[in-house]
Amino acid sequence: MSLTTPGNFSSVNTKEPAASVPKAVPKPFPGIRNAVKIAPAEVQLFSKYIYGLCGINIEASKAYLLETRLGKLLESEKCDSFTTFYYKAKADSSKLLEKQIIDAITTNETLFFRDASPFDLLKHKIIPEMIDHRSTSVPKGSPVPIRIWSAACSTGQEIYSIAIVLRELLGPNHNYSIKLLGTDISDTAIKQASYGVYNKFEIERGLPREKLQRYFTTQGESWKISDEIRAMATFRKFNLMESFSSLGKFDIIFCRNVAIYFILEDRIKVFNKVADSLEMDGYLMIGATESLTGVCPRFIPKRHLKSIFYQLR
Ligand SMILES: C[S@@+](CC[C@H](N)C(=O)[O-])C[C@H]1O[C@@H](n2cnc3c(N)ncnc32)[C@H](O)[C@@H]1O
Repeated sequence: MSLTTPGNFSSVNTKEPAASVPKAVPKPFPGIRNAVKIAPAEVQLFSKYIYGLCGINIEASKAYLLETRLGKLLESEKCDSFTTFYYKAKADSSKLLEKQIIDAITTNETLFFRDASPFDLLKHKIIPEMIDHRSTSVPKGSPVPIRIWSAACSTGQEIYSIAIVLRELLGPNHNYSIKLLGTDISDTAIKQASYGVYNKFEIERGLPREKLQRYFTTQGESWKISDEIRAMATFRKFNLMESFSSLGKFDIIFCRNVAIYFILEDRIKVFNKVADSLEMDGYLMIGATESLTGVCPRFIPKRHLKSIFYQLR
């Protein structure tokens, strides 16, 4: 059972007086350092809190996730229970703890050219087709706009993979107005994306050697994306639970491997907002294991070779 469906939230009253707050599980041996355990009522309290912060749904059966991901923060904040930690986070007007909680709870797993096929599709079908359409609709001599949004870009590998595809397809001196936007709710992820610096593990995942040599320079033990590719993208913190109206319209949206963390009701809302943000002839890419069936009938799946992309009806 999901604890984080809005219906379930009504049972948790966060404004309760201190006397009725959930009882923390005591440490078994005082004096001996032990990871703080989370009590069932605290699971409910935190699930509701995290859902409110970022829409991520943590089911009761995943209580261990709260313990493992928030344990270190609890320790560094010297909190001896999740309840104390909760009230400390709520009282923190700087919102720093809130940001750290989001960073700890989000799964930022990503890699360069993840699943390969979306990037092949971009190169061989979507961009050429889009340029064809647009060339006839923009005034002669004006640059053709190409606006692409990576809607949960994590540490930036997705948007930089897109930038590399565009650079290789269009060359350095093109007449296109390229706008690549990467957004994510995690401050730490956005910061790394913005620096464009990756460690050995990250760089070895999905990035062909020839692209590493061409588009990265070493920086100590790490690799930094070239200024040319870096300059193609902008990054911004953004919560997909909010209104998308400040972002404008896009020709292509990558919204991959993020909606899996949301309840159906929120997936429906997110993909309807995605539909509103996409040009009528735009393209949507979702994760390899995701589907929009029962989520957003405004999109129809289309197949090209072995890949699936979505367009508005
Ligand atoms: C698994 S990563 C996916 C990264 C990339 N799209 C990919 O497929 O490789 C999921 C990302 O979604 C972000 N995320 C989770 N909830 C979010 C929300 N409400 N708004 C924006 N981003 C969110 C996380 O911070 C994380 O970086």
